[in-house]
Amino acid sequence: MRLLDTFGRVADDLRISVTDRCNFRCVYCMPAAGLPWLARDEVLSFEEIVRLTRILVEQCGVGTIRLTGGEPLVRKGIEELTAMIAGIDRSLDIAMTTNGILLEEKAVALKQAGLRRLNVSLDTLHADRFKDLARRDALDRVLRGLAAAKAAGFAPIKLNMVVMRGQNDDEILDFARLARSDGYEVRFIEFMPLDADGIWSMERVVASREIIEAIDREFPLEPVKDQRPAPATRFRFRDGGRGGIGVIPSVSDAFCKVCNRIRLTAEGHLRTCLFSIQEHDLKSLLRGGASDDKIREAVVAAVWQKEEGHKIGQADFVRPGKTMSQIGG
Ligand code: 5AD
Ligand code: SF4
Repeated sequence: MRLLDTFGRVADDLRISVTDRCNFRCVYCMPAAGLPWLARDEVLSFEEIVRLTRILVEQCGVGTIRLTGGEPLVRKGIEELTAMIAGIDRSLDIAMTTNGILLEEKAVALKQAGLRRLNVSLDTLHADRFKDLARRDALDRVLRGLAAAKAAGFAPIKLNMVVMRGQNDDEILDFARLARSDGYEVRFIEFMPLDADGIWSMERVVASREIIEAIDREFPLEPVKDQRPAPATRFRFRDGGRGGIGVIPSVSDAFCKVCNRIRLTAEGHLRTCLFSIQEHDLKSLLRGGASDDKIREAVVAAVWQKEEGHKIGQADFVRPGKTMSQIGG
């Protein structure tokens, strides 16, 4: 039974937050002091995650899994979990979004476990600015992590850059150059109101169109047609340069209309939208002895109620009470 909603969309992309903890404190996500972490027993176990994933893959047509956090690599045994999920179905497309600081240690094991795709968050190429944005002095380690991921055979690696006006928008061309020199797919993401400190404002959002125009003036671009609807609009360099560019217009032109995503939080709640106000508690079912059928029915019913989309910038927009780190990117 596919996961259909009342707007005719089908959810087949499951994003699993494996921990709410993070070793960074990015200004667009967490407060400097961190957040009260979930107690260990509140977080789903590997067995619980795998059981739920198996139901959704085998019975509901989920084909893409993305492991997120918090920072997924701080979850102990993440390689084992990756291998367990990969073992559910060999055709599963398993990806991860990470801040990269632990990749130097973990890239090879993740590759061996069956991780296929890697997105690494990187918002600046200046060490001092990195320290301000991530509140950790870790640019060198992240760059070493990226090199390790490349050496382990991840290709292409995607870089996620959250663009914030006045903070790192002067580096857009530097990131385009990095794509060309190192073959990365760079994703420029519009800043969304999911930060803990409430610094978000419309003025800080740099619209995707502005980003593409700026790059295109320096390095002419041409659009890449995706077979499936995707949140990123992608471009390649007209001169045949390596790497690629993508923009995620999450605020200016959200991909809500064709959204195929659902999210599992670290504490085992299902969210049908990044901006959901309500979550569906699956952990109680998992821990309460519910059958696979019951669990599947709960997910089917939750997805049926998936919201039409977010309303950022409109008068009736309600900000969710959670930060990105508590939802999973
Ligand atoms: N707006 C846009 N992107 C965000 N991310 C985290 N917080 C925000 C935000 N407020 C991104 C991270 C990471 C992914 C998980 O989500 O940079 O790449
Ligand atoms: Fe879909 Fe919600 Fe994301 Fe919009 S914000 S694309 S509705 S999950």
